[in-house]
Amino acid sequence: MIIAIDGPAASGKGTIARQIAAAYGLHHLDTGLLYRAVAKALLDAGHSPDDPARAAEAATMLDPERFDENALKSQSVTDAASVVAAIPEVRQALINYQREFATKPPGAVLDGRDIGTVIAPGADVKIFVVASPEVRASRRTLEMRSRGEMVDEKEVLADLLRRDARDSRRTAAPLKAAPDAHLLDTTHLGIDAAFRAAVDIIEAVRAGRKRR
Ligand code: C5P
Repeated sequence: MIIAIDGPAASGKGTIARQIAAAYGLHHLDTGLLYRAVAKALLDAGHSPDDPARAAEAATMLDPERFDENALKSQSVTDAASVVAAIPEVRQALINYQREFATKPPGAVLDGRDIGTVIAPGADVKIFVVASPEVRASRRTLEMRSRGEMVDEKEVLADLLRRDARDSRRTAAPLKAAPDAHLLDTTHLGIDAAFRAAVDIIEAVRAGRKRR
């Protein structure tokens, strides 16, 4: 079973994906880490994140087994990730890895922006997770403060909106719901309720399939 979970930043898709993978015994890939790792490689080498040739080269040299998630979550990497993610050569270089991951037995949950549209258009279940920008900014602020980062919620909101705009307006695999994705709005849902809502979607899709 392949489950595609897409949505904007801090919508809750990462937490839902992790919990769904654990509940169903599937592999989980946070595909944002791939773009973050490309961005970090460029920043560490002193290069601009909008250098297509260097970014594409960095994308071919990633070693996801050795990702340091904490280092990939910094604000500078976060911002640069959505810049490298708009480069078609970078996306192209990362497609095979994601598709191979998705088909590893017994199946996988992938979360990102283009899983249901580009990476796994034939996924068994597609969920597009949304939440209001204010709620997303509040969640992201709490998360960053819990890591010891002193951040201002208004700035976090401005950053989320800037990234959403960049991710939605790019021509290469923009952030958008697949036509057959199920919308899950987590604005008024806590973590448990969001997880249960995702399970309900998955079970409804599976039951529908069995009936056919
Ligand atoms: O999901 P996360 O916020 O960690 O992703 C970081 C950035 O990577 C996003 O802002 C987006 O530009 C990019 N991304 C993408 N496609 C994906 C996953 C992430 O373009 N499938």
